[in-house]
Amino acid sequence: MIAAARLGMIAWIGGGASDLSPSQHFWRSPPANVPYVRPGGWGRVIGVEFADVVRRRRMVRDYDPDRPVPPSVRERVLEHAIRAPSAGFSQGWAFLVLESQEERDRFWAATTDGGAPDRWLTGMRRAPLLIVPLSHKAAYLDRYAEPDKGWTDRDERRWPVPYWDIDTGMAALLMLLTAVDEGLGACFFGIPPGRVAGFRTSFGVPDAYAPIGCVAVGYAGDADRRSPSLRRGRRGVDEVVHRGRW
Ligand SMILES: Cc1cc2nc3c(=O)[nH]c(=O)nc-3n(C[C@H](O)[C@H](O)[C@H](O)COP(=O)(O)O)c2cc1C
Repeated sequence: MIAAARLGMIAWIGGGASDLSPSQHFWRSPPANVPYVRPGGWGRVIGVEFADVVRRRRMVRDYDPDRPVPPSVRERVLEHAIRAPSAGFSQGWAFLVLESQEERDRFWAATTDGGAPDRWLTGMRRAPLLIVPLSHKAAYLDRYAEPDKGWTDRDERRWPVPYWDIDTGMAALLMLLTAVDEGLGACFFGIPPGRVAGFRTSFGVPDAYAPIGCVAVGYAGDADRRSPSLRRGRRGVDEVVHRGRW
């Protein structure tokens, strides 16, 4: 399911819709007999829902425990994750998918202190799907030691920033956006540093793989609330963009 289709808003490109003026290309409902063509597909109708998905994305911290993530959605989330860009096409990432109650309980047991759950944990524990994106630094050092890159010394000072974490973070963002596109919610959250060793032991994760956080996915629950952090307000474009010079 595509966000725009859910909202009944589809953009028309070419074909029988070419009688529309440019401004009319957006936010028109298609007749029922015209098939929807996914972005990237070849056809006369494409969705324009991307801006809407970006705008509607927000972290969801309470989930409906009775609505599992459809397997097709889970797989689409994962397929989109691996479309993320990666330096040297290293693709030094991995994704631990936790879905059964036992797997999820084990995750929460390993990553939290085990006390009475607060409101955050109560809502998050209801998420029916957890995906832990892990970054694999060695894959980048190996890739860049290849002849076309030539960093045979594997010196980490060559890296301006940890590309392995950046790329895995980009994959995480694609997962968040895909969840929204499918009408679900998601939340990226951190695993406390002191809990990473226990997390690795609980799931047999090799030391070479570092969890950059976790993405909870599911249908939003009734108790979902806006984060208090949002009271900070979104910094505007003029505040953060420096054009031409600082
Ligand atoms: C790197 C990173 C770490 C985050 N860690 C947490 C977290 O541990 N717990 C949490 O509830 N939200 C976490 N968030 C979500 C942010 O609080 C949230 O993105 C921010 O408040 C803006 O809200 P929005 O994403 O709903 O627009 C994290 C987000 C990022 C990008």
